[in-house]
Amino acid sequence: MNEIKCNADTGNSVIYTGEKISSFEKYLKGRKTVVITDKNINRLYGNHFSNYPSVVIGTGEEIKSLATVEYIISELIKNGCDRKTFILGIGGGIVTDITGFASSVFMRGVDFGFVSSTLLSQVDASVGGKNGVNAGTLKNMIGVFRQPEFVICDPEMITTLSDSEYLSGLAEVIKHGFIRNSSLLSFISDNRNLILDKDTAVIEKMVFESVKIKTDVVTEDPKESGLRKILNFGHTFGHAVELINGIPHGHAVAFGMICALKLSHSLNYITEADKNYGINLLKNFGYKEDFNIEESDLFDCLSHDKKKSDDKIDFVLLNKIGNAFIEKIEIKELRRWYNDMCSGS
Ligand code: GLY
Repeated sequence: MNEIKCNADTGNSVIYTGEKISSFEKYLKGRKTVVITDKNINRLYGNHFSNYPSVVIGTGEEIKSLATVEYIISELIKNGCDRKTFILGIGGGIVTDITGFASSVFMRGVDFGFVSSTLLSQVDASVGGKNGVNAGTLKNMIGVFRQPEFVICDPEMITTLSDSEYLSGLAEVIKHGFIRNSSLLSFISDNRNLILDKDTAVIEKMVFESVKIKTDVVTEDPKESGLRKILNFGHTFGHAVELINGIPHGHAVAFGMICALKLSHSLNYITEADKNYGINLLKNFGYKEDFNIEESDLFDCLSHDKKKSDDKIDFVLLNKIGNAFIEKIEIKELRRWYNDMCSGS
């Protein structure tokens, strides 16, 4: 087991990688605790927290709404919770995002922590203090920055994920390699088969390396005023494709990273060999390079991107494998580049 600290003005958090769900009680330090989870986790792991009152929510992106927050809060009130109550979210990114948000607004803020059950939430969603819900179809439009007191990352829980869900999280691990650590990418290439077999030792190592990268970035820029934007590598085109095609987040981000590698090369920031290395690495894990999307739909989505201002978008590019930077790019320039790329010129 390893501990990684993430201390920032949004709170102090400790992430325990290689820890077990069965050990969560010791982190509660005897406090009155209510669990928030979803019906799948409750079915699979409910025996671990049957001694605690729980609020069980549904699954899927539609559940990440203010209506669910209101439901959770009414259940906390029914359970006699007060400012000293601790809230433990057990689940993937939807549960942890909504738990963090509900805990931050209930009685103007109570302490909370997570047992993170998916690879995507262990390496990204549950780390760094972004909590929130959607406004209709617009993702994470309502939220706060506030860090969980602790995050437990149990590698065994990852082995029960579907392949698609697992690969969705793996894309975020690969993202961390692209933006900050090329040796993580070498590790991923060298261990392809063990990774695809969901080997727990390899999962533990990937989660540890990813969390280290993410906490380093978040500690330096907790509220995304600059550096933290590099965590959005692959997310500009990725979010748009996710919204249009309804594909899982990481698969869309993998497509977005392929676009970003191509753009980094077109703008002469990385060599053709580096571009091909990155694209082949992603394709070797089965991520797709093309989703047959209408260009007009894609750019319609991009023009509503949260990272946009004055028709320019903060685009995350690479100047080498393992180093990302931000460049403001006009959406019309991006459109021209995309059309040239699709027509093969
Ligand atoms: N998922 C990107 C971030 O936490 O900033």
